[in-house]
Amino acid sequence: MGTDKDTKINLFHTYKSKQEILIRRCTLDDLDGVIDVNERELPEDYPYFFYKSILDDYPESFLVAQNKNGKIVAYIMWRVEKTPSFNGLKYENKGHLVSIAVSEEYRREGIAFELLSNSMSAIIKYKIRSYVLEVRVSNYSAIKLYEKFNFKTKGIKKNYYRDGENAYFMVREAK
Ligand code: ACO
Ligand code: ZN
Repeated sequence: MGTDKDTKINLFHTYKSKQEILIRRCTLDDLDGVIDVNERELPEDYPYFFYKSILDDYPESFLVAQNKNGKIVAYIMWRVEKTPSFNGLKYENKGHLVSIAVSEEYRREGIAFELLSNSMSAIIKYKIRSYVLEVRVSNYSAIKLYEKFNFKTKGIKKNYYRDGENAYFMVREAK
């Protein structure tokens, strides 16, 4: 468990600035760096134990991007939810995108694309039927990103965020 070989997922060069970025699984030691990115880039903040429980439960799809100096510049985390199926007789698993963020200075370089591709293929092992997420209706760049991955808007969740903003509920089939 936890060897370099298991956790090193992908090394790539960013589109424009050609920096070397390593995409790999998150470890306990990375959580401070992850929280740092989250607090700078998103108004939705979570307590440490929340990140820790996601890392404990779904480590395969909790990924970070680190730069050449080892600094965490982006992360993505998912959880799996069991929900009643359409006819209510069975349960099915959904992969729920909890959070993704890329440090401002590293945006538009393909990092979110890499994080999403690698984590979506990792979370498949939980036999999910679909991928789901919520996104602020004003979050143009994130909505474009999800559309690029074929997510479709299935509804609006009113007042979803603490400041009262609505969320789009977006879904993609898993196959
Ligand atoms: N304008 C239009 N499209 C965009 C933009 C933008 N500013 N940014 C990303 N995209 C779309 C494009 O389709 C892009 O593909 P292209 O470059 O070939 O056109 C695709 O996303 C992939 O772009 P990346 O470079 O991989 O995206 P980036 O690494 O910049 O990260 C992200 C995108 C995560 C939305 C980033 O802007 C960010 O961290 N924002 C703040 C945090 C945030 O809003 N997170 C999402 C909250 S919702 C949730 O977590 C469930
Ligand atoms: Zn959500």
